[in-house]
Amino acid sequence: MNNIKGIIFDLDGVLVFTDHYHYLAWKKMADSINCYFDEIINNKLRGVSRMASLDIILENYKGIPFTKEEKEALAFKKNEIYKDLLKKMTPDDVSRDVRDTLAELRKRGYKLSVGSSSKNAKFILKQVDLIDSFDAISDGTNITNSKPDPEVFLKGASFLGLNPQECAVVEDAYAGIDAAKAGNMLAISIGDATSYDKSDIKLTKFSDLLLYFK
Ligand code: G6P
Ligand code: MG
Repeated sequence: MNNIKGIIFDLDGVLVFTDHYHYLAWKKMADSINCYFDEIINNKLRGVSRMASLDIILENYKGIPFTKEEKEALAFKKNEIYKDLLKKMTPDDVSRDVRDTLAELRKRGYKLSVGSSSKNAKFILKQVDLIDSFDAISDGTNITNSKPDPEVFLKGASFLGLNPQECAVVEDAYAGIDAAKAGNMLAISIGDATSYDKSDIKLTKFSDLLLYFK
């Protein structure tokens, strides 16, 4: 790994766990329009942008199709509920394993960035007191194409002043591993994505990163 100078981390499912908050917020929105939604569908939304997530959820909607404006209103409503739930997050929502590993990687000279499709990424990082652990943040506010498009990671690399080949990506979603590979980066999986054969390195726990990045 001696060519790697920067590591880009997905947020949801890697640094913090917001899946359940996404679920609760989408569920409330789906119930309000009588649309079936469950945790299995929610799992398909990892790494997927807000509007693309809504389209996946609406595949189960049997009523008259919504206009673009109505869809935007539904996504807005979900996000208001989601943001309210995020306010409950505290620094205790980040494990010691994650916090100490990030600090050690920085100490070893690696540049660190977040690479998340979420437009709420900075808000979440502030809530859990992780915002100062990174040299750059690339998120849903600076991209037009979400994962599996590599844009969010390519921007992350450029914010760090590095070439994609000098960067590794840590991801829990298949779409994120695809994005890393499409961007010509080393793809490291954790959680669900470890069962994806496209990932280059599989982590059992976050601090295993220290075994690869000396
Ligand atoms: C992350 C999550 C997705 C979410 C997306 C957009 O990638 O894994 O589940 O849909 O961010 O999040 P946002 O906070 O902008 O709605
Ligand atoms: Mg994720």
